[in-house]
Amino acid sequence: MTQTLFSTYQLGRITLANRIVMSPMTRSRSPGNVPDAHVAEYYAQRATAGLIVTEGTSPSPDGLGYARIPGLFSDAQQTAWKVVTDAVHAAGGKIAVQFMHTGRVGHQANLPAGGRVVGPSAVAAPGEMYTDSQGMQAHPVPVAMTEADIEKAIGEFVSASKRAVAAGFDLVELHGANGYLIDQFLNAASNQRTDRWGGSLENRARFAVEVARRTVAEIGADRVGIRLSPAGGNGGMVADANTTALYLHLAKEFKTLKLAYIHMIDHSAMGAPKPPEGLFAGMKEAFGGTFILAGGLTAATAEAALTERRADLVAFGRPFLSNPNLVAKFQRGETNLTPFNFKLAYTPGPEGYTDYPAN
Ligand SMILES: Cc1cc2nc3c(=O)[nH]c(=O)nc-3n(C[C@H](O)[C@H](O)[C@H](O)COP(=O)(O)O)c2cc1C
Repeated sequence: MTQTLFSTYQLGRITLANRIVMSPMTRSRSPGNVPDAHVAEYYAQRATAGLIVTEGTSPSPDGLGYARIPGLFSDAQQTAWKVVTDAVHAAGGKIAVQFMHTGRVGHQANLPAGGRVVGPSAVAAPGEMYTDSQGMQAHPVPVAMTEADIEKAIGEFVSASKRAVAAGFDLVELHGANGYLIDQFLNAASNQRTDRWGGSLENRARFAVEVARRTVAEIGADRVGIRLSPAGGNGGMVADANTTALYLHLAKEFKTLKLAYIHMIDHSAMGAPKPPEGLFAGMKEAFGGTFILAGGLTAATAEAALTERRADLVAFGRPFLSNPNLVAKFQRGETNLTPFNFKLAYTPGPEGYTDYPAN
């Protein structure tokens, strides 16, 4: 069958109604790190996506680096997420939870009691971040993780994945992109370790591969995807001479693990560096499984990516945020989309969240 935006797609054990994925987007609408009823309403409004990927959700108290982001490591969070997945399923949609451990991109003022800002090495991310109680603050120097800290963090991804299945999620997406913990291990700018977790590209890849391997062992390969951003650009991540080899190595490892998908980010339309030439095509071939493309897509460029077999699924972030019925708009051929209001991206409350027009 021809691949088009509106054709169905079999992703492991689930059938997606179309090829349009809602990209993960942090919205900071979960006071106390527990999603409330507005979160269920927000995702249910967007349930005509073939697949929704939630906002970055922490598998650990240590990974709640931003203000008011949700977690999935407590019973209360699991119960709250079940309300969200039920609402999306009732509206006919499918939903993956994105596990984002913020690692060094965090601040003590945003973390719950006992939470620690950790990273592969004691190297601070450049720049500042927002906290509710102290305003803008410089990124702190993270605690360099010990072998025991690494084992604990991997275990947190695994137990959160078990909770994700219990909370009704169709899949888990590991956030290996944009400068958060998994990416911090991949990238030499943040990983200066000389043990088996740093140095060679195989060592830098080890944390990502181990998290994926252990999560797959817990909930099954057809329930686990991963998001990657080889060009860097966010959180002080920079590409280096080994980037292409590192990501081709990852694609092969994820093929061996039979991951449900790889979700590739090209943020060059947002001013980030361009991914190395030919890398995405090389990874798609090496992986052989479902390949999702994201970043600055329009209906036309997404359709071209599908037709040219550069992607199996295509993801939209900002357009979906401000157009709950994006799929219907695309079907009607509308190009005049409601613009995304960045000022209300991370503010508390329903404004700029559940009040975008549904037409
Ligand atoms: C408000 C906002 C929050 C975001 N939060 C996340 C996140 O939690 N996890 C993630 O992987 N990407 C995040 N992103 C990146 C988007 O998923 C997407 O890759 C990016 O917006 C580019 O796609 P677009 O041009 O379709 O918007 C965020 C983007 C925006 C605008």
